[in-house]
Amino acid sequence: MEDAAKSEPNDANAMALATVDAEGLPNVRIVLIKDIEDDAFVFYTNFESAKGRELDANGKAALVVHWKTTRRQVRVRGTVTREDGAVADAYYASRPLDSRLGAWASRQSEPLDSRETLIDRVEAARAEHGTDPARPPFWGGYRIRPESFEFWSDGAYRLHDREVWRRDPATGGWTAQRLYP
Ligand SMILES: Cc1cc2nc3c(=O)[nH]c(=O)nc-3n(C[C@H](O)[C@H](O)[C@H](O)COP(=O)(O)O)c2cc1C
Repeated sequence: MEDAAKSEPNDANAMALATVDAEGLPNVRIVLIKDIEDDAFVFYTNFESAKGRELDANGKAALVVHWKTTRRQVRVRGTVTREDGAVADAYYASRPLDSRLGAWASRQSEPLDSRETLIDRVEAARAEHGTDPARPPFWGGYRIRPESFEFWSDGAYRLHDREVWRRDPATGGWTAQRLYP
């Protein structure tokens, strides 16, 4: 990602996050990777959004990052837990004030009748929460703990390199396997 950030026009940390709904129908959308911990990818969202409900219901997700400039793809599948403690508080506090108020104002994924309603809700949040709002209880992070990775890089004539790394549940160690492209 550091490498890609040098050449990507923007959002080298954008990932497509896949979840499944209660009927097993996949759902995918872009979110930003805000931290890469030793054992997890962290992103932030509204817990009551479609993705939040889907993640809370089954605790699993997949993600993919594609950098066009470096012609690389990274896929991850894993388990998901909420980050709704001090780490989420600190990240929330680091955001611009209007983003913090926007988190209060947006009932993410719910029907919205007009843009004016959203703007009114931001101003109502400003009046209520002032210049140092606390993190909303319905907003925070999720940690995706990888069970497997796939690293793909572009090769001439479609002879790409693909390698899957899987976590051994018994030992926690990783094994790598090359795949046909
Ligand atoms: C470049 C980009 C970055 C985004 N980053 C986030 C993010 O970090 N968190 C988030 O909740 N939504 C983010 N979104 C919006 C989501 O794609 C999505 O519209 C929203 O989270 C609602 O998804 P849901 O209804 O499936 O929960 C981003 C969208 C784009 C295009």
